[in-house]
Amino acid sequence: MHFLDLIIKKRNGNKLSDEEIRYIVSSYVDGEVPDYQMSAFLMAVYFKGMDMEETVSLTDAIIKSGEIVDLSDIPGKVIDKHSTGGVGDKATVVVGPILAALNVPVAKMSGRGLGFTGGTIDKLESIPGFRSELSIEEFKDVIKKVNYSDIAQTKNLCYADKLLYGLRDVTGTVEEKSLIASSIMSKKIASGADGIVLDVKVGSGAFMKNKWSAEEIARLMIGIGRQYGKKVTAVLSDMECPLGKYVGNSLEIIEAMEILKGNGDPRAEKLCKTIAKEMLLLYNDSLSDEAAMGMVNKVIENGKAIECFRRFVEAQGGDGRIVDDYSIMGEARYKIEVKADRAGYIGGWNAEVIGRACLEAGSGRRTKEDAIDYLAGAYIGKSIGEQVKTGDTIAVIYTNDKKKGEMAKRIMQKAYIVSDIKTVPGDVILSIIR
Ligand code: URA
Repeated sequence: MHFLDLIIKKRNGNKLSDEEIRYIVSSYVDGEVPDYQMSAFLMAVYFKGMDMEETVSLTDAIIKSGEIVDLSDIPGKVIDKHSTGGVGDKATVVVGPILAALNVPVAKMSGRGLGFTGGTIDKLESIPGFRSELSIEEFKDVIKKVNYSDIAQTKNLCYADKLLYGLRDVTGTVEEKSLIASSIMSKKIASGADGIVLDVKVGSGAFMKNKWSAEEIARLMIGIGRQYGKKVTAVLSDMECPLGKYVGNSLEIIEAMEILKGNGDPRAEKLCKTIAKEMLLLYNDSLSDEAAMGMVNKVIENGKAIECFRRFVEAQGGDGRIVDDYSIMGEARYKIEVKADRAGYIGGWNAEVIGRACLEAGSGRRTKEDAIDYLAGAYIGKSIGEQVKTGDTIAVIYTNDKKKGEMAKRIMQKAYIVSDIKTVPGDVILSIIR
């Protein structure tokens, strides 16, 4: 078998066999195939796609590039969640501690920033001292100790996804459903949980721009999960505008802490609570929706959820004092205001454009070697439907690089529309597939 032949086979729109897909993954992982050939293969998949059978083979080959975590010594079921990727999506950082406070073990493997979206691992690594590359034993110990751990792919766990993920991020090959589904489901199967809630994002700030394609990928991932005996629920959620008021790694950690303290932006709070409720229902299917939501609300109100966040951060080496003192997270040197260019009502925010502005400000990578500015990002000061006057500050760019910040501001000027008519944003929850 020759890698080049397989690139051409996929480029010509032909179906690859299980054996061929396993060869592609193993030869890349073993370092026999250079990045440029793998990039060409990914681009061929981007244009020609893969069917369900190929996607299952790819998922399995990625899983087998590492180990599968055995969580059988953790009593009861273990639950996980994953988002297909969005702008300002800090839901994982919120729901993990909520479930931990409810004594539901959560075993999570997350990714870094991808394309114009942020990644949970980059967000968590913005916390001073936080370690995301744990051994399997450490991962299990943290779950046993604080009910929640969140780790990155390593050499031992989903190594192929670690490599492919980083390559897709910088080669324009993120937005393809079989690549997204295999990347997500391989992490979910390898990290060993019994039940999985998928947050499938729809809209300008998501990789699935319409509900139809979001439903398609949701059903694909549910199908893969079933093949491994996992219970999977998909929540389809709106990603036209960013989730919450802040985009950017450290800014989102602070906003997540605010949600855990009960002071969150209402749409972000609703999504996080809904995902937490669905995770709880997978853990205990005898609960009613109302009872599960009541339990979620309670651990936020009584402060247990934010304490569980602190314990989780400390268990992974981070500085838990951030819960009481946000200044420990640091602050960007420059704050550049974006002003409304006319009077009216905010008619819409384009989340993808906001994501690209934040990337420009330093919150993501353009090449594999790029370093992240953890403090870079944006504050979205005016929500859809809010009235503005010409010159009002509607957003703020955060950055440590003034030149990049000015460029981000120019991008941000194209991220909103002001209209004469007041519009009301739709519900953040579009549907739930159980
Ligand atoms: N999250 C992942 O882990 N992988 C993707 O491809 C997209 C979102």
